[in-house]
Amino acid sequence: MTSVLITGPTKGLGRVTTLALAARPAKPDLLLVGRDLGGVAAEARALGATVHEIGADLARLAEVRAAAATARKLVESGTVRPLGAVIGNAGAMSADTRRASADGYELTFAVNYLAHAQLIGDLAATIAEPGRIVLLGSNTYRQNFWRKLLSVPEARWRDPVEIARPAAESEKPGMEASGVAYSNAKLAILYYAHELQRHLRPGIGVTVFEPGWMPGTSLGRSAPEAAQAFMRGLGRIPGVSTPEKSGPLLASVALDAKWAHLRDGAFVLKDHVIQAAPVAHDREREQRLWAATGELLASS
Ligand SMILES: NC(=O)c1ccc[n+]([C@@H]2O[C@H](COP(=O)([O-])OP(=O)(O)OC[C@H]3O[C@@H](n4cnc5c(N)ncnc54)[C@H](OP(=O)(O)O)[C@@H]3O)[C@@H](O)[C@H]2O)c1
Repeated sequence: MTSVLITGPTKGLGRVTTLALAARPAKPDLLLVGRDLGGVAAEARALGATVHEIGADLARLAEVRAAAATARKLVESGTVRPLGAVIGNAGAMSADTRRASADGYELTFAVNYLAHAQLIGDLAATIAEPGRIVLLGSNTYRQNFWRKLLSVPEARWRDPVEIARPAAESEKPGMEASGVAYSNAKLAILYYAHELQRHLRPGIGVTVFEPGWMPGTSLGRSAPEAAQAFMRGLGRIPGVSTPEKSGPLLASVALDAKWAHLRDGAFVLKDHVIQAAPVAHDREREQRLWAATGELLASS
């Protein structure tokens, strides 16, 4: 009997995952972290789950820290059952890389990566053993034929302090820059997952989940309307992934015994482990990201 904390439970993959967790016979206690949680919380309660709403804008590190403190109190006071899994699902793709989070960091990097590094750093001692941390990755970190065809750029890694810096006001925003920022944030999650495992108690495993391409979710909601309509159209192609298909798989990776062996940032594509490309395994970058993350979080 356990509790599961999930970020970004309100829309897309996070919402379906939350409801899949709520519908499980074992009924984990649910700690929902995000904005405007009332709707999904009510849906999960209707399925019989015990739900705690922890409001937080992940683009504000002070709110992330407060959310972690609330979650810690709930667990330590015995109000909820031991924290068996943390799912870092929330994500965003800012159309304008000049936009900054409340703490002055490029918004996509701040929400996808920094917020989760803060949350997990604050909760690591509270997670039960055996326990799981599941982070959301994306194969966009590297190029392939289809992504090239659709002009989805791969990561262009730089020092994390530079990646965290919003683009200069003089720079023209565009889908290319926005896509690179997203892919960089997702490559950061792979590097972070590998390094995080080296810093955790042995009973906690770190996994990176790739839900498959789910065009038409609200991930690109700040993109021009024409681009969003194009993506919604692609979302109707038979065979592409959807939150409805991938949400239960994410819930399974967080809880099911068949995934208990996963650790070291194992990369799970929907329902099977895949090998991340060599660029995603780089000890020097992983250690530098860990150190830079500490600096970025400490200075805000
Ligand atoms: N869609 C894909 O093809 C795809 C592929 C690979 C990986 N992924 C990853 O899967 C995850 C879920 O994506 P999705 O497609 O389901 O996206 P989505 O429908 O846009 O859902 C994103 C979730 O993140 C939350 N979120 C975003 N910014 C936030 C903030 N500042 N504070 C609090 N919550 C925030 C949203 O909450 P609000 O409602 O409050 O905005 C929402 O609940 C992301 O990490 C994404 O990168 C997606």
